[in-house]
Amino acid sequence: MKVQIPRGTQDILPEQAKVWQWIEEKMREVTKQYHYKEIRTPIFEHTDIFARGVGDTTDIVQKEMYSFQDRGGRDLTLRPEGTAAVVRSFVENKMYGDPNQPVKLYYVGPMFRYERPQSGRYRQFVQFGVEALGSQDPAIDAEVIGLAMDIYKQVGLKNLNLVINSLGDKESRANHREALIQHFQPRIDEFCKDCQNRLEKNPLRILDCKVDRDHELMKTAPSILDYLNDESKVYFEKVCQYLTDLGIEYTIDPKLVRGLDYYNATTFEIMSSAAGFGAITTLCGGGRYNGLVEEFGGPETPGIGFALSIERLIAALEAENVQLNLPHEIDFYLIALGDRAKDYSVKLLNDLRHNGFSADRDYTNRKMKAQLKSADRLSAKYVLILGEDELDQGIIQMKNMQTSEQKEIHLQSFIEEIKQLVI
Ligand code: HAM
Repeated sequence: MKVQIPRGTQDILPEQAKVWQWIEEKMREVTKQYHYKEIRTPIFEHTDIFARGVGDTTDIVQKEMYSFQDRGGRDLTLRPEGTAAVVRSFVENKMYGDPNQPVKLYYVGPMFRYERPQSGRYRQFVQFGVEALGSQDPAIDAEVIGLAMDIYKQVGLKNLNLVINSLGDKESRANHREALIQHFQPRIDEFCKDCQNRLEKNPLRILDCKVDRDHELMKTAPSILDYLNDESKVYFEKVCQYLTDLGIEYTIDPKLVRGLDYYNATTFEIMSSAAGFGAITTLCGGGRYNGLVEEFGGPETPGIGFALSIERLIAALEAENVQLNLPHEIDFYLIALGDRAKDYSVKLLNDLRHNGFSADRDYTNRKMKAQLKSADRLSAKYVLILGEDELDQGIIQMKNMQTSEQKEIHLQSFIEEIKQLVI
Protein backbone atom coordinates (compact mmCIF):
# COMPACT_ATOMS: atom_id res chain seq x y z
CA MET A 1 0.00 0.00 0.00
CA LYS A 2 1.31 3.45 -0.91
CA VAL A 3 1.01 5.76 2.10
CA GLN A 4 1.34 9.00 0.21
CA ILE A 5 -0.78 12.03 -0.51
CA PRO A 6 -2.02 12.33 -4.14
CA ARG A 7 0.04 14.58 -6.42
CA GLY A 8 -1.03 18.21 -6.43
CA THR A 9 -2.80 18.05 -3.06
CA GLN A 10 -1.65 19.04 0.41
CA ASP A 11 -2.46 18.40 4.05
CA ILE A 12 -3.21 21.52 6.01
CA LEU A 13 -1.66 20.65 9.38
CA PRO A 14 -2.98 22.29 12.56
CA GLU A 15 -0.37 25.08 12.67
CA GLN A 16 -1.15 26.02 9.09
CA ALA A 17 -4.90 25.54 9.63
CA LYS A 18 -4.76 28.41 12.13
CA VAL A 19 -3.60 30.68 9.33
CA TRP A 20 -6.35 29.38 7.04
CA GLN A 21 -9.00 30.01 9.68
CA TRP A 22 -7.73 33.51 10.27
CA ILE A 23 -7.85 34.25 6.53
CA GLU A 24 -11.32 32.76 6.14
CA GLU A 25 -12.51 34.84 9.05
CA LYS A 26 -11.17 38.02 7.43
CA MET A 27 -12.90 37.10 4.18
CA ARG A 28 -16.19 36.52 5.92
CA GLU A 29 -15.86 39.87 7.71
CA VAL A 30 -15.27 41.73 4.46
CA THR A 31 -18.07 39.95 2.58
CA LYS A 32 -20.40 40.80 5.44
CA GLN A 33 -19.48 44.48 5.13
CA TYR A 34 -20.44 44.29 1.46
CA HIS A 35 -23.58 42.27 2.29
CA TYR A 36 -22.85 39.05 0.41
CA LYS A 37 -24.38 35.85 1.76
CA GLU A 38 -22.87 32.39 1.80
CA ILE A 39 -24.02 29.65 -0.56
CA ARG A 40 -22.89 26.02 -0.37
CA THR A 41 -23.23 23.84 -3.44
CA PRO A 42 -22.16 20.19 -3.90
CA ILE A 43 -18.55 19.23 -4.56
CA PHE A 44 -19.67 17.44 -7.74
CA GLU A 45 -22.17 18.39 -10.42
CA HIS A 46 -23.43 16.88 -13.67
CA THR A 47 -20.54 17.19 -16.12
CA ASP A 48 -22.75 19.16 -18.50
CA ILE A 49 -22.93 22.07 -16.05
CA PHE A 50 -19.22 22.76 -16.50
CA ALA A 51 -19.00 21.72 -20.16
CA ARG A 52 -21.72 24.23 -21.04
CA GLY A 53 -20.97 26.79 -18.38
CA VAL A 54 -17.19 27.03 -18.51
CA GLY A 55 -17.13 26.17 -22.22
CA ASP A 56 -16.22 23.18 -24.42
CA THR A 57 -13.15 24.85 -25.88
CA THR A 58 -11.49 25.80 -22.59
CA ASP A 59 -8.48 23.99 -21.14
CA ILE A 60 -10.46 23.39 -17.97
CA VAL A 61 -13.15 21.37 -19.76
CA GLN A 62 -10.90 19.74 -22.35
CA LYS A 63 -7.98 18.73 -20.16
CA GLU A 64 -8.44 19.40 -16.50
CA MET A 65 -11.69 17.98 -15.19
CA TYR A 66 -11.95 15.10 -12.76
CA SER A 67 -14.91 13.42 -14.44
CA PHE A 68 -16.35 10.01 -13.64
CA GLN A 69 -19.46 7.91 -13.92
CA ASP A 70 -21.19 6.94 -10.73
CA ARG A 71 -22.68 3.50 -10.19
CA GLY A 72 -25.91 4.69 -11.76
CA GLY A 73 -24.10 5.62 -14.98
CA ARG A 74 -24.42 9.39 -14.42
CA ASP A 75 -21.66 11.62 -15.80
CA LEU A 76 -20.37 13.68 -12.91
CA THR A 77 -17.42 16.04 -12.38
CA LEU A 78 -15.64 17.31 -9.27
CA ARG A 79 -16.18 21.07 -9.54
CA PRO A 80 -13.23 22.82 -11.19
CA GLU A 81 -14.69 26.23 -10.27
CA GLY A 82 -17.70 27.70 -8.50
CA THR A 83 -19.50 30.04 -10.90
CA ALA A 84 -21.27 27.44 -13.08
CA ALA A 85 -22.47 25.60 -9.96
CA VAL A 86 -23.74 28.81 -8.33
CA VAL A 87 -25.59 29.78 -11.50
CA ARG A 88 -27.08 26.27 -11.71
CA SER A 89 -28.33 26.69 -8.14
CA PHE A 90 -29.57 30.25 -8.83
CA VAL A 91 -31.73 28.93 -11.69
CA GLU A 92 -32.86 25.75 -9.97
CA ASN A 93 -33.87 27.59 -6.81
CA LYS A 94 -35.48 30.44 -8.78
CA MET A 95 -33.39 33.01 -6.93
CA TYR A 96 -34.20 35.41 -9.78
CA GLY A 97 -37.63 35.69 -8.11
CA ASP A 98 -36.10 36.92 -4.83
CA PRO A 99 -37.40 40.43 -4.12
CA ASN A 100 -33.89 41.48 -3.06
CA GLN A 101 -31.95 41.92 -6.26
CA PRO A 102 -29.14 41.63 -7.07
CA VAL A 103 -28.58 38.31 -5.33
CA LYS A 104 -25.13 38.65 -3.76
CA LEU A 105 -23.47 35.35 -2.88
CA TYR A 106 -20.12 34.04 -1.72
CA TYR A 107 -18.61 30.58 -1.31
CA VAL A 108 -15.48 28.95 0.07
CA GLY A 109 -14.53 25.41 -0.79
CA PRO A 110 -12.27 22.96 -2.60
CA MET A 111 -12.05 22.95 -6.41
CA PHE A 112 -10.35 20.31 -8.53
CA ARG A 113 -8.32 20.68 -11.71
CA TYR A 114 -6.01 18.14 -13.29
CA GLU A 115 -3.21 20.64 -13.91
CA ARG A 116 0.55 20.21 -13.85
CA PRO A 117 1.36 20.85 -10.20
CA GLN A 118 3.90 23.54 -9.43
CA SER A 119 4.29 26.28 -6.89
CA GLY A 120 0.91 27.97 -6.54
CA ARG A 121 -0.83 25.40 -8.69
CA TYR A 122 -2.58 22.47 -7.09
CA ARG A 123 -4.97 19.77 -8.23
CA GLN A 124 -7.14 20.43 -5.22
CA PHE A 125 -7.25 24.05 -4.08
CA VAL A 126 -9.64 26.17 -2.08
CA GLN A 127 -11.42 29.00 -3.82
CA PHE A 128 -13.15 31.87 -2.16
CA GLY A 129 -15.52 33.45 -4.65
CA VAL A 130 -18.34 35.94 -4.89
CA GLU A 131 -21.12 36.25 -7.46
CA ALA A 132 -23.58 39.14 -7.84
CA LEU A 133 -26.52 38.17 -10.04
CA GLY A 134 -29.23 40.48 -11.29
CA SER A 135 -27.58 43.85 -11.81
CA GLN A 136 -26.22 45.50 -14.92
CA ASP A 137 -24.96 48.55 -13.07
CA PRO A 138 -21.25 49.32 -13.57
CA ALA A 139 -21.17 50.26 -9.88
CA ILE A 140 -21.55 46.60 -8.97
CA ASP A 141 -18.56 45.74 -11.15
CA ALA A 142 -16.56 48.26 -9.13
CA GLU A 143 -18.02 46.88 -5.89
CA VAL A 144 -16.98 43.32 -6.71
CA ILE A 145 -13.47 44.40 -7.70
CA GLY A 146 -13.26 46.60 -4.60
CA LEU A 147 -14.29 43.68 -2.41
CA ALA A 148 -11.49 41.52 -3.81
CA MET A 149 -8.96 44.29 -3.26
CA ASP A 150 -10.24 44.82 0.29
CA ILE A 151 -9.71 41.18 1.17
CA TYR A 152 -6.08 41.37 0.15
CA LYS A 153 -5.60 44.62 2.01
CA GLN A 154 -7.28 43.27 5.14
CA VAL A 155 -4.87 40.35 5.35
CA GLY A 156 -1.96 42.76 4.98
CA LEU A 157 -0.88 42.45 1.34
CA LYS A 158 0.49 45.55 -0.34
CA ASN A 159 2.14 44.57 -3.61
CA LEU A 160 -0.90 44.16 -5.80
CA ASN A 161 -1.64 44.94 -9.42
CA LEU A 162 -5.18 45.15 -10.66
CA VAL A 163 -5.54 44.54 -14.39
CA ILE A 164 -8.87 45.09 -16.13
CA ASN A 165 -10.32 44.75 -19.59
CA SER A 166 -13.64 44.69 -21.36
CA LEU A 167 -14.67 41.89 -23.70
CA GLY A 168 -17.68 43.94 -24.75
CA ASP A 169 -21.26 42.89 -25.42
CA LYS A 170 -22.48 40.35 -28.00
CA GLU A 171 -22.19 42.73 -30.94
CA SER A 172 -18.71 43.94 -30.00
CA ARG A 173 -17.50 40.39 -29.50
CA ALA A 174 -18.97 39.21 -32.81
CA ASN A 175 -17.07 41.95 -34.66
CA HIS A 176 -13.87 41.21 -32.77
CA ARG A 177 -14.30 37.50 -33.47
CA GLU A 178 -14.45 38.15 -37.23
CA ALA A 179 -11.33 40.28 -37.00
CA LEU A 180 -9.51 37.55 -35.08
CA ILE A 181 -10.45 34.89 -37.64
CA GLN A 182 -9.20 37.08 -40.48
CA HIS A 183 -6.01 37.77 -38.56
CA PHE A 184 -5.11 34.18 -37.73
CA GLN A 185 -6.63 32.24 -40.66
CA PRO A 186 -3.87 32.77 -43.28
CA ARG A 187 -1.23 31.28 -40.94
CA ILE A 188 -3.29 29.02 -38.71
CA ASP A 189 -1.25 25.95 -39.74
CA GLU A 190 1.68 27.45 -37.80
CA PHE A 191 -0.36 27.13 -34.61
CA CYS A 192 -0.98 24.11 -32.37
CA LYS A 193 -3.81 21.64 -33.02
CA ASP A 194 -5.89 23.16 -30.21
CA CYS A 195 -5.65 26.63 -31.75
CA GLN A 196 -6.58 25.26 -35.18
CA ASN A 197 -9.76 23.90 -33.62
CA ARG A 198 -10.31 27.16 -31.74
CA LEU A 199 -10.20 29.28 -34.90
CA GLU A 200 -13.80 28.63 -35.90
CA LYS A 201 -15.22 27.58 -32.55
CA ASN A 202 -13.78 30.32 -30.34
CA PRO A 203 -10.89 32.35 -31.76
CA LEU A 204 -10.62 34.44 -28.55
CA ARG A 205 -9.23 31.33 -26.83
CA ILE A 206 -6.20 31.46 -29.17
CA LEU A 207 -5.07 34.60 -27.32
CA ASP A 208 -4.96 32.55 -24.13
CA CYS A 209 -2.92 29.67 -25.61
CA LYS A 210 0.06 28.65 -23.51
CA VAL A 211 1.78 26.83 -26.42
CA ASP A 212 1.63 29.57 -29.05
CA ARG A 213 1.91 32.61 -26.83
CA ASP A 214 5.19 33.75 -28.46
CA HIS A 215 3.96 33.53 -32.06
CA GLU A 216 4.40 36.90 -33.77
CA LEU A 217 0.71 37.02 -34.79
CA MET A 218 -0.20 37.07 -31.09
CA LYS A 219 1.42 40.47 -30.62
CA THR A 220 -0.35 42.00 -33.60
CA ALA A 221 -3.78 40.43 -32.94
CA PRO A 222 -6.70 42.86 -33.11
CA SER A 223 -7.47 44.38 -29.73
CA ILE A 224 -10.98 43.99 -28.33
CA LEU A 225 -10.91 47.59 -27.16
CA ASP A 226 -10.94 48.70 -30.82
CA TYR A 227 -14.13 46.72 -31.40
CA LEU A 228 -16.24 47.86 -28.46
CA ASN A 229 -19.48 49.47 -29.58
CA ASP A 230 -20.59 52.73 -27.95
CA GLU A 231 -22.66 51.05 -25.26
CA SER A 232 -19.82 48.73 -24.20
CA LYS A 233 -17.34 51.59 -24.29
CA VAL A 234 -19.48 53.81 -22.04
CA TYR A 235 -20.06 50.91 -19.65
CA PHE A 236 -16.36 50.19 -19.36
CA GLU A 237 -15.53 53.86 -18.87
CA LYS A 238 -18.05 53.97 -16.02
CA VAL A 239 -16.45 50.96 -14.32
CA CYS A 240 -13.03 52.64 -14.62
CA GLN A 241 -14.44 55.90 -13.26
CA TYR A 242 -15.94 54.15 -10.23
CA LEU A 243 -12.65 52.41 -9.52
CA THR A 244 -10.90 55.77 -9.59
CA ASP A 245 -13.58 57.16 -7.25
CA LEU A 246 -12.84 54.31 -4.86
CA GLY A 247 -9.14 55.11 -4.99
CA ILE A 248 -8.32 51.78 -6.62
CA GLU A 249 -5.43 51.85 -9.07
CA TYR A 250 -5.63 49.68 -12.18
CA THR A 251 -4.07 49.09 -15.55
CA ILE A 252 -6.02 48.21 -18.67
CA ASP A 253 -4.78 45.17 -20.55
CA PRO A 254 -6.70 44.45 -23.78
CA LYS A 255 -5.08 40.99 -23.87
CA LEU A 256 -6.77 39.89 -20.65
CA VAL A 257 -9.26 37.36 -22.04
CA ARG A 258 -9.47 34.90 -19.07
CA GLY A 259 -9.55 31.13 -19.44
CA LEU A 260 -13.30 30.55 -19.17
CA ASP A 261 -15.86 31.06 -21.93
CA TYR A 262 -18.68 32.67 -20.03
CA TYR A 263 -17.07 36.11 -19.78
CA ASN A 264 -18.20 39.31 -21.46
CA ALA A 265 -17.90 43.02 -20.67
CA THR A 266 -15.68 43.58 -17.60
CA THR A 267 -12.89 41.10 -16.85
CA PHE A 268 -10.15 41.52 -14.28
CA GLU A 269 -7.26 39.85 -12.51
CA ILE A 270 -5.27 40.81 -9.45
CA MET A 271 -1.59 39.93 -9.53
CA SER A 272 1.06 39.89 -6.86
CA SER A 273 4.03 42.10 -7.64
CA ALA A 274 5.98 40.90 -4.59
CA ALA A 275 9.59 40.06 -5.33
CA GLY A 276 10.11 36.34 -4.99
CA PHE A 277 6.51 35.41 -5.73
CA GLY A 278 6.55 32.38 -8.05
CA ALA A 279 6.05 32.32 -11.79
CA ILE A 280 2.27 32.28 -11.48
CA THR A 281 1.45 35.74 -10.27
CA THR A 282 -2.33 35.76 -10.65
CA LEU A 283 -3.98 35.81 -7.25
CA CYS A 284 -7.56 36.34 -8.31
CA GLY A 285 -9.67 36.43 -11.46
CA GLY A 286 -13.18 37.36 -12.39
CA GLY A 287 -15.54 39.20 -14.62
CA ARG A 288 -19.02 39.53 -16.06
CA TYR A 289 -20.96 36.58 -17.36
CA ASN A 290 -24.17 38.07 -18.71
CA GLY A 291 -25.98 35.27 -20.56
CA LEU A 292 -24.93 32.34 -18.35
CA VAL A 293 -28.23 32.28 -16.45
CA GLU A 294 -30.13 32.06 -19.77
CA GLU A 295 -27.76 29.30 -20.90
CA PHE A 296 -28.97 27.32 -17.88
CA GLY A 297 -32.64 27.96 -18.68
CA GLY A 298 -33.23 30.97 -16.43
CA PRO A 299 -34.52 34.43 -17.38
CA GLU A 300 -32.17 37.11 -18.72
CA THR A 301 -29.99 37.94 -15.70
CA PRO A 302 -26.62 39.67 -15.73
CA GLY A 303 -23.89 38.47 -13.39
CA ILE A 304 -20.41 39.30 -12.22
CA GLY A 305 -18.01 37.71 -9.75
CA PHE A 306 -14.49 36.60 -8.99
CA ALA A 307 -12.62 33.80 -7.30
CA LEU A 308 -9.28 33.62 -5.56
CA SER A 309 -7.45 30.69 -4.06
CA ILE A 310 -6.37 30.70 -0.46
CA GLU A 311 -3.21 28.80 -1.45
CA ARG A 312 -2.01 31.69 -3.63
CA LEU A 313 -3.06 34.25 -1.06
CA ILE A 314 -0.89 32.47 1.53
CA ALA A 315 1.99 32.30 -0.97
CA ALA A 316 1.68 36.08 -1.41
CA LEU A 317 1.66 36.60 2.36
CA GLU A 318 4.87 34.58 2.58
CA ALA A 319 6.47 36.44 -0.33
CA GLU A 320 5.69 39.78 1.33
CA ASN A 321 6.70 38.40 4.71
CA VAL A 322 3.50 39.70 6.32
CA GLN A 323 3.41 39.15 10.09
CA LEU A 324 -0.03 37.81 10.94
CA ASN A 325 -1.81 38.88 14.06
CA LEU A 326 -3.12 35.41 14.91
CA PRO A 327 -5.38 35.09 17.94
CA HIS A 328 -4.16 33.37 21.12
CA GLU A 329 -4.67 29.64 20.84
CA ILE A 330 -6.09 29.32 24.36
CA ASP A 331 -7.09 31.60 27.23
CA PHE A 332 -5.98 29.34 30.09
CA TYR A 333 -3.46 26.57 30.61
CA LEU A 334 -4.05 24.79 33.88
CA ILE A 335 -1.11 23.17 35.67
CA ALA A 336 -2.12 20.78 38.41
CA LEU A 337 0.59 19.25 40.61
CA GLY A 338 -0.16 16.16 42.66
CA ASP A 339 -3.03 13.69 42.47
CA ARG A 340 -5.53 15.69 44.53
CA ALA A 341 -4.94 18.83 42.49
CA LYS A 342 -5.25 16.85 39.27
CA ASP A 343 -8.58 15.43 40.36
CA TYR A 344 -9.80 18.89 41.34
CA SER A 345 -8.69 20.43 38.07
CA VAL A 346 -11.10 18.28 36.06
CA LYS A 347 -13.97 20.37 37.32
CA LEU A 348 -12.13 23.71 37.13
CA LEU A 349 -11.31 23.13 33.49
CA ASN A 350 -14.92 22.30 32.80
CA ASP A 351 -16.09 25.46 34.59
CA LEU A 352 -13.78 27.59 32.45
CA ARG A 353 -14.97 26.01 29.22
CA HIS A 354 -18.62 26.31 30.14
CA ASN A 355 -18.10 29.99 30.84
CA GLY A 356 -16.85 30.72 27.36
CA PHE A 357 -13.08 30.43 27.91
CA SER A 358 -10.78 28.14 25.97
CA ALA A 359 -8.71 26.06 28.34
CA ASP A 360 -6.45 23.03 28.35
CA ARG A 361 -4.16 21.05 30.65
CA ASP A 362 -1.53 18.34 30.59
CA TYR A 363 -2.65 14.72 30.28
CA THR A 364 0.74 13.02 30.16
CA ASN A 365 2.12 13.55 33.67
CA ARG A 366 4.79 16.00 32.62
CA LYS A 367 6.86 18.05 35.04
CA MET A 368 5.90 21.66 35.84
CA LYS A 369 8.67 23.06 33.59
CA ALA A 370 7.49 21.08 30.58
CA GLN A 371 3.93 22.17 31.22
CA LEU A 372 4.97 25.81 31.37
CA LYS A 373 6.69 25.34 28.02
CA SER A 374 3.46 23.96 26.60
CA ALA A 375 1.57 27.01 27.86
CA ASP A 376 4.13 29.19 26.12
CA ARG A 377 3.92 27.28 22.85
CA LEU A 378 0.14 27.55 22.89
CA SER A 379 0.48 31.28 23.61
CA ALA A 380 -1.93 30.87 26.53
CA LYS A 381 -3.03 34.22 27.90
CA TYR A 382 -3.00 32.93 31.49
CA VAL A 383 -1.52 30.02 33.38
CA LEU A 384 -3.32 28.63 36.41
CA ILE A 385 -1.25 26.69 38.93
CA LEU A 386 -2.83 24.41 41.49
CA GLY A 387 -0.66 22.40 43.93
CA GLU A 388 -1.36 20.61 47.21
CA ASP A 389 -0.60 23.78 49.23
CA GLU A 390 -2.94 25.94 47.20
CA LEU A 391 -5.63 23.32 47.50
CA ASP A 392 -5.28 23.30 51.30
CA GLN A 393 -5.56 27.09 51.35
CA GLY A 394 -8.52 27.09 48.96
CA ILE A 395 -6.74 29.17 46.33
CA ILE A 396 -5.23 28.87 42.85
CA GLN A 397 -2.41 30.96 41.34
CA MET A 398 -3.13 32.82 38.16
CA LYS A 399 -0.32 34.26 36.04
CA ASN A 400 -0.82 36.72 33.19
CA MET A 401 1.67 35.48 30.60
CA GLN A 402 2.02 38.85 28.93
CA THR A 403 2.64 40.99 32.02
CA SER A 404 3.93 38.20 34.31
CA GLU A 405 1.57 39.61 36.92
CA GLN A 406 0.45 36.98 39.45
CA LYS A 407 -2.80 36.81 41.43
CA GLU A 408 -4.39 34.44 43.89
CA ILE A 409 -7.94 33.37 43.11
CA HIS A 410 -10.27 31.77 45.66
CA LEU A 411 -11.46 28.39 44.57
CA GLN A 412 -14.86 29.04 46.13
CA SER A 413 -15.55 31.99 43.84
CA PHE A 414 -13.26 30.80 41.04
CA ILE A 415 -15.31 31.75 37.94
CA GLU A 416 -16.65 35.03 39.37
CA GLU A 417 -13.14 36.27 40.18
CA ILE A 418 -11.72 35.09 36.86
CA LYS A 419 -14.47 36.87 34.96
CA GLN A 420 -13.75 40.09 36.78
CA LEU A 421 -10.04 39.90 36.10
CA VAL A 422 -10.23 38.80 32.50
CA ILE A 423 -13.10 40.82 31.07
P1 HAM B 1 -10.08 31.19 -12.53
O1 HAM B 1 -9.27 32.29 -13.07
O2 HAM B 1 -10.07 29.90 -13.27
O3 HAM B 1 -11.57 31.75 -12.41
O4 HAM B 1 -9.65 30.91 -11.04
C1 HAM B 1 -9.70 31.92 -10.07
C2 HAM B 1 -8.54 31.84 -9.13
O5 HAM B 1 -8.44 30.52 -8.60
C3 HAM B 1 -7.17 32.06 -9.75
O6 HAM B 1 -6.88 33.41 -9.89
C4 HAM B 1 -6.27 31.40 -8.72
O7 HAM B 1 -6.12 32.23 -7.58
C5 HAM B 1 -7.10 30.22 -8.29
N1 HAM B 1 -6.68 28.99 -8.97
C6 HAM B 1 -7.07 28.51 -10.17
N2 HAM B 1 -6.47 27.35 -10.44
C7 HAM B 1 -5.68 27.06 -9.37
C8 HAM B 1 -4.82 25.97 -9.04
N3 HAM B 1 -4.67 24.94 -9.84
N4 HAM B 1 -4.16 26.02 -7.85
C9 HAM B 1 -4.32 27.06 -7.01
N5 HAM B 1 -5.13 28.11 -7.28
C10 HAM B 1 -5.81 28.11 -8.44
C11 HAM B 1 -12.61 31.03 -11.92
O8 HAM B 1 -12.51 29.98 -11.36
C12 HAM B 1 -13.92 31.77 -12.03
N6 HAM B 1 -15.00 30.90 -11.52
C13 HAM B 1 -13.89 33.07 -11.27
C14 HAM B 1 -15.17 33.83 -11.37
C15 HAM B 1 -16.14 33.89 -10.45
N7 HAM B 1 -15.55 34.54 -12.40
C16 HAM B 1 -16.75 35.05 -12.16
N8 HAM B 1 -17.13 34.64 -10.98
